[in-house]
Amino acid sequence: MNIDVVLGLQWGDEGKGKIVDVLAARYPAVARFQGGPNAGHSLHFEGKKFVVRSIPSGIFREGSTNVIGSGVVLDPVTFREECLNLEKMGIATREKLCISKKAHLILPTHRLMDAALEAAAGKGKIGSTLKGIGPTYTDKIGRHGLRVGDILAPDFRARFDALKARHLRQLKDLGYECDPDKDEAQWMDAVAFLKEYKLVDCEYFVNEWLDTKPMLAEGAQGSLLDVDYGSYPFVTSSNTTIGGVCTGLGVAPSRVGHVYGIFKAYCTRVGSGPFPTELFDETGEELRRLGNEFGAVTGRPRRCGWLDLVALKYSVMINGVTDLIMMKSDCLDSFEEIKVCTSYRVDGVPSDHVPFDTHAAIEPVYTTFPGWKTDLTGCRKEDELPQAFKNYVAFMEQFLGVPIKIISLGPDREATIER
Ligand code: IMO
Ligand code: MG
Repeated sequence: MNIDVVLGLQWGDEGKGKIVDVLAARYPAVARFQGGPNAGHSLHFEGKKFVVRSIPSGIFREGSTNVIGSGVVLDPVTFREECLNLEKMGIATREKLCISKKAHLILPTHRLMDAALEAAAGKGKIGSTLKGIGPTYTDKIGRHGLRVGDILAPDFRARFDALKARHLRQLKDLGYECDPDKDEAQWMDAVAFLKEYKLVDCEYFVNEWLDTKPMLAEGAQGSLLDVDYGSYPFVTSSNTTIGGVCTGLGVAPSRVGHVYGIFKAYCTRVGSGPFPTELFDETGEELRRLGNEFGAVTGRPRRCGWLDLVALKYSVMINGVTDLIMMKSDCLDSFEEIKVCTSYRVDGVPSDHVPFDTHAAIEPVYTTFPGWKTDLTGCRKEDELPQAFKNYVAFMEQFLGVPIKIISLGPDREATIER
């Protein structure tokens, strides 16, 4: 059986939570393969909103198995908080979750390091969510990290203290004033809580599962935040693109089936970094208001702009997207005209490539479409969609060379058209 993948094609916040929740009805298991509590995946059903951070969005489906893979970085405190909230809803998290022993642990001092590094970066700051993501992956690659499986070792406390001491030296070098012990007691309590969960050898678990049953992999962040292919250094510290599925879960590329690439009908970005189609005018404000573009994790207002098809085509290429999923086109319902960026002028020169240099002056070249001026939120069938909207969709499919298989027209599970 295959592992199918849902991943974001822009700068995160594409609506992955909703789509995983919709698709999870067809997959008995959902796995997160990278990222950590920097993610905030929102789901809406039965008139309520739910946000998950480290836990796969499949958790809400009855009988589902949910895997936190080796490529994820886990903060035991956030994890416990999420689990307790889910338990209140009657979801048996201990039964439904499996956590890779190889996932790395976010320590309280990793969070402090994140804050210290951002403070030291001044104007060049990344705009991190300050959840300790970058420092934890740094320790992983530097081979100093602590992993979930280590919590079972008799010398865990000593290893924790050694890593903490290392962080304290780094914090001192950065001249960062803080109380390094503040969150330690609750972190240790949360580690004890984590011990009650199924800690697994993720690579065996996933491969044996796939011998008989399908699985869905849920990406966090977006392709343009990938540490290798995003707008470095304004990226997150993991591979958010398709390769991350193989390394993060221990599966071969030949196991990967459908690659669902998810994008919003406009663009948003939180944090710093290039954003060629960003709007600083009333239209940008309007997009933020209509799309309620405020961070699920940090509450920060998101930067908003028109859809960037050059960047989207780049993400489609890198991930080998087989099926596109378009989100939030209903937020454009009231616009007289709708623009999409179809090429760039990079330092004055026409180009259809995303440039290497994040400081390059990119001027977007737009194609303009007449707005459909119809409320799409009630549409549930293809033939209810206005012609102007259909033309817009057809143009994108032609440009990107991949069919748009799902159109989402509102946050609720039900507001979804499959084609
Ligand atoms: P989901 O999964 C949007 C952004 C941060 C910052 C950069 C690095 O909800 O789509 P980090 O904390 O990872 O060191 O921050 O990446 N970022 C996200 N933006 N959605 C996310 O996740 C994000 N996770 C990180 O704003 O610019
Ligand atoms: Mg988010």
